[in-house]
Amino acid sequence: MRTFMIGGGMIAHDQILPSLYQLKRLGRVEGIEICDRRKESLDALLNAPLLNEAFPDQKFAPRLESYEECLAGLAPEQLAVVALPDALHYKAVMAALRADQHVLCVKPLVLTVAQAEEVEHEARERGLMVGIEYHKRFDDRSLMARRRYRAGLFGEFKLGTASLLEKWYYRYSNFQNWFTCEATDAFTYIGCHYVDLVAFITGLLPVEISVYGMKDRFPNGNEGWLWTDARVIWSNGACLNVQNALGFPDAAPGTNTQGLNMYCSNGETGAWINHDDQYRGMQYCYTRHPGGDGANVYNEPSPDYFQYVNVGGPGLTPVGYGYRSVSYIVERALELQGLGLAERRAKLKEFDDAGVMATPENSRYNEAVVEAARKSVLGGGCPVKFA
Ligand SMILES: NC(=O)c1ccc[n+]([C@@H]2O[C@H](COP(=O)([O-])OP(=O)(O)OC[C@H]3O[C@@H](n4cnc5c(N)ncnc54)[C@H](O)[C@@H]3O)[C@@H](O)[C@H]2O)c1
Repeated sequence: MRTFMIGGGMIAHDQILPSLYQLKRLGRVEGIEICDRRKESLDALLNAPLLNEAFPDQKFAPRLESYEECLAGLAPEQLAVVALPDALHYKAVMAALRADQHVLCVKPLVLTVAQAEEVEHEARERGLMVGIEYHKRFDDRSLMARRRYRAGLFGEFKLGTASLLEKWYYRYSNFQNWFTCEATDAFTYIGCHYVDLVAFITGLLPVEISVYGMKDRFPNGNEGWLWTDARVIWSNGACLNVQNALGFPDAAPGTNTQGLNMYCSNGETGAWINHDDQYRGMQYCYTRHPGGDGANVYNEPSPDYFQYVNVGGPGLTPVGYGYRSVSYIVERALELQGLGLAERRAKLKEFDDAGVMATPENSRYNEAVVEAARKSVLGGGCPVKFA
């Protein structure tokens, strides 16, 4: 199976491309092409020091034509990987499906329920897979909590808090050009991870949201909802509070701060799930600044998301749930290779029902949450029901 990636920016560099390189190294995928409308993005990936150190044995084929032109030349039922900014996902995913490609799309799939339904319909008609890359699902702690929750060990979720705050320096990046009040807000950008995770662990569905936002100015003068506090109500009446911002201090250790705290009960006694997703037990103090945005002399690195280890070469081997998540989706697409339409549809139903890989069918609540969240934040934090 060949892979064709659309968009070669930050997430391509940090997670998706090295995962595909490793899968190519292991013989799980064949060629890797990347199409980007900016030559600088492709050059940056081709010359990225870390990627070249880790994968001296791998290369991708850069494509500067439009993705529509590239898709037209692909054999059917290969894998298109969509890694574009959020607002461009819908058009690219639909183009890939119409070109008869399976799809791996970075989160969020699309921004409205109507678009998600269209994607689902197109994929079902053609017997194609759409896997949405919510990598926190592949963090073992999420899978552990899910298994124990579903075995009844925690009773039922009642109250929770989650937070994910990116560092202040994000305000100086390209974010200041697109992260404006009309386009998005801190919850819409990163809050979706923990809403998806609570649904993934518990099987409950979100039904109502209110998002209180505070506006703040980027260095270029643009205004964005850079601080948000969301209250998400669930199908059993439970309540999850989610705080998000581009505002965690640059001087703090780690690349951001994040975590999930859930209080549960079986009616007779309380139960508790607490995940510190930033501090994972490691403390490093270097002799000098290690380089890189958001890094510090004192650091608390996460060994769990995406790291490179040297296990004898060639180059370095990627490890962590970022790699496992991409690998899982690629393996599902491989299972579909060579099957007829009816067999593919049966397999796709199995994937939907298993609920491990997010699909348009089994994670449509994410689009409903984002759509309602935008209404709420623009409406001054009013509650918006969507189920
Ligand atoms: N934690 C996560 O799950 C996570 C983290 C980061 C990013 N993301 C998601 O990844 C996506 C991409 O984010 P990013 O940070 O890599 O963005 P980015 O801006 O760094 O990269 C996007 C790339 O797409 C290219 N592009 C834009 N329009 C194009 C077009 N029409 N055709 C071809 N290329 C085009 C740009 O030139 C750029 O190189 C977003 O949806 C984001 O939400 C997810």
